[in-house]
Amino acid sequence: MQKNRRLNWAPIMFLALCALLIAAALLFGMRALNTWSEYDAESRITPVPTATVHAIKVTRDPALVTNTPAPTALYMASGSAGAMVSELQEILLNLGFYTGVVDGQFGSGTRDAVKLFQQQHSLTADGIVGQMTWDMLHSGQVHRIEITPTPPATDTLAGNIPMLVNRENPIPEGFYPRNLVRIQDVAPEGLFLYKIRNLMAVEEAVNALIKMVQDATSQGIYPWQISEGYRTYEDQKDIFDNYVSNFMEDGFTRSNAVSATRQTVADPGQSEHHTGLAFDLTVPGEFFSDTAQYAWLATYCWDYGFIMRYTDDKQDITGFLGEEWHVRYVGLEHSKKMQQSGMCLEEYLQSLGY
Ligand code: DAL
Ligand code: ZN
Repeated sequence: MQKNRRLNWAPIMFLALCALLIAAALLFGMRALNTWSEYDAESRITPVPTATVHAIKVTRDPALVTNTPAPTALYMASGSAGAMVSELQEILLNLGFYTGVVDGQFGSGTRDAVKLFQQQHSLTADGIVGQMTWDMLHSGQVHRIEITPTPPATDTLAGNIPMLVNRENPIPEGFYPRNLVRIQDVAPEGLFLYKIRNLMAVEEAVNALIKMVQDATSQGIYPWQISEGYRTYEDQKDIFDNYVSNFMEDGFTRSNAVSATRQTVADPGQSEHHTGLAFDLTVPGEFFSDTAQYAWLATYCWDYGFIMRYTDDKQDITGFLGEEWHVRYVGLEHSKKMQQSGMCLEEYLQSLGY
């Protein structure tokens, strides 16, 4: 009897542990939901954001670096922080690849600068600093940024016939447009806001964009943010993979996540951004389709050699949902004819026999 009256703690402890686990799961779930809705809102404002590398945050203690060289352990990516990131930023700044603040925080600006550095130093352009990139940064082989990179190069405006890039007409992974320029280097100060530092595009398209936005601005239509310009094959792959992962985190199967992603994001090698002739124009904090900038662009872009590439009424042909913010440079001769005919690029090229 005495024994029966004693309190049995085991089930109570078990129940308490279960309650704790359920509370933790609920908290984690709410945080995940919150993160997704923030991401979703941002995506809708600027629908193809730069990919975020879901990297493990590793910050090496500089003391450890000096005392214990461990080549395989070196790893810096988006989210890393500390003295080594500052050193990285300093070097990239001096070489002209980085234009941001040396703050020891590895954000998207640092990642883009690393990618550009890697591209121009025959390294895999993944935006992650491992031992090979770190060694190159400290080697005698480094060179300053090349604004017009050396070949491989391919014509994007060959024969003045606009290049067609879509699912049926991919471009090779190694495709590299001629005459890429860093937009900030050629655009007048203050004309654009930049969502990403070091945005590049083909010079002829950038000059047309500058003229167009100068005219809009002088008519009182501003500000204009450039969210996207030239993207490498790897950039596009990052964006695509990120969308797929996010859909899968939201409960989609892989194949459904890929299908959902393909509604708005091109597969690597199938994006017009890879040509260096396309831009995503946005207004910070606003849905672009609701802005005066969009109304102006849709009316006048044709007078500057641009087309609205993805419109709702041509989804069946282009393969993408309407994108009011995405303009493509095709040259004035073609943009005017396309405006008059109402044809999208696929239809227009077909009418010319291509
Ligand atoms: N959002 C466009 C279709 C692209 O990914 O190029
Ligand atoms: Zn775009």
